[in-house]
Amino acid sequence: MFEKFTSLPPDPILGLLASYRVDENPNKIDLGVGVYKDESGHTPVLQSVKEAETRLLQGEETKAYIGPAGTPGFNSAMQELALGEGHPALIANRVRSVQTPGGCGALRVLAELVNRARPGARVWVSDPTWANHVPLLGNAGLKIESYPYYDRATSSLRFDEMVETLKNVGEGDLVLLHACCHNPCGADLTREQWKVIAEMAQKQGFTPFIDMAYQGFGDSLSDDAWGLRLMAESVPEMLLAVSCSKNFGLYRERVGMALVIYNDAAAADNGQSQLLNVVRGNYSMPPSHGAAIVEAILTDAGLRANWEAELTEMRERINSLRSGVVESLAAAGAPGDFSFIQRQKGMFSFLGISAEQVQQLQKEYSIYMVDSSRISIAGLSQGNMEYFSKAVAAVL
Ligand code: LMR
Repeated sequence: MFEKFTSLPPDPILGLLASYRVDENPNKIDLGVGVYKDESGHTPVLQSVKEAETRLLQGEETKAYIGPAGTPGFNSAMQELALGEGHPALIANRVRSVQTPGGCGALRVLAELVNRARPGARVWVSDPTWANHVPLLGNAGLKIESYPYYDRATSSLRFDEMVETLKNVGEGDLVLLHACCHNPCGADLTREQWKVIAEMAQKQGFTPFIDMAYQGFGDSLSDDAWGLRLMAESVPEMLLAVSCSKNFGLYRERVGMALVIYNDAAAADNGQSQLLNVVRGNYSMPPSHGAAIVEAILTDAGLRANWEAELTEMRERINSLRSGVVESLAAAGAPGDFSFIQRQKGMFSFLGISAEQVQQLQKEYSIYMVDSSRISIAGLSQGNMEYFSKAVAAVL
């Protein structure tokens, strides 16, 4: 059966990790996968998470199934974290969600839900977007189209072209938007720009499909959700995939949420029954542990305050690395203006160098980044910044 298979190349993001691990250069730097690291290059378990886990371990009484939707406590706490307490869609009882295995699980089950309602619907994704959006949505049967988003030459948004393209998108189509901290480019829509897109969605009838994987990594928990909250007030229907991997540091536990806003409460009940059926026919039920941690943190004032403080610390470290690397590249004499890195948000920015230069950095300096020159900023540190900047200056 499988003899005709040929071997596929490694995943463009995950494949880097394998090469990095076997590299023996003591100066090696991993700027590949989007995983937060502290000054020592370690991805810590948050203290709030450890404390929640300790409590769970002591209080846990059963390992019986939790059901396809996950727990009501997780879902309601996460709905409020994303939409904000008292959001009109919540008050109108138009919101339903399920706990999912990571943001990927959320994207996939939402895409399958859409495909049930409208087989082969078109979903417009930003150019560029996170590489895994394409298989996650496309393998569910949706047709991928793209709209212009980021100009590598000027390191800025192509907002006018984005609007021009989206003018032709109407009812039955979806537009995928990154809520904040755009992956891979780090350039986000301004509030004014969110208003324009929300108005277009309202007038033209396309359905916003929002991916929020970095809430709290840009400006704050509420600022980062500002655009999606506005969108959710403007349109009758909306999809939202949320990941808890980064902001709770729960990567391997696989925690996320698939949320749908429906036209009214009756449509919401019908839609939720379909979504639960999608889940049952896919992975049956989500894992419990990671989501139980999130629920424990969000529903306990003390744990929540600790978590928010830890999240702030991660965000501030990334922001200081952003300004630090701009200065350090200038000091190393790297030609060009890298100040855009400081203006961008979240885990990633494009360095804006060629694929050959990326390869050269890997071969000669053991500095690992995705071919597009996307760097995961948290992989930098005070300790490796100078080495990194001198290497970049040398290959430019
Ligand atoms: C990334 O883009 O590096 C992260 O979202 C991790 C992943 O799964 O690709």
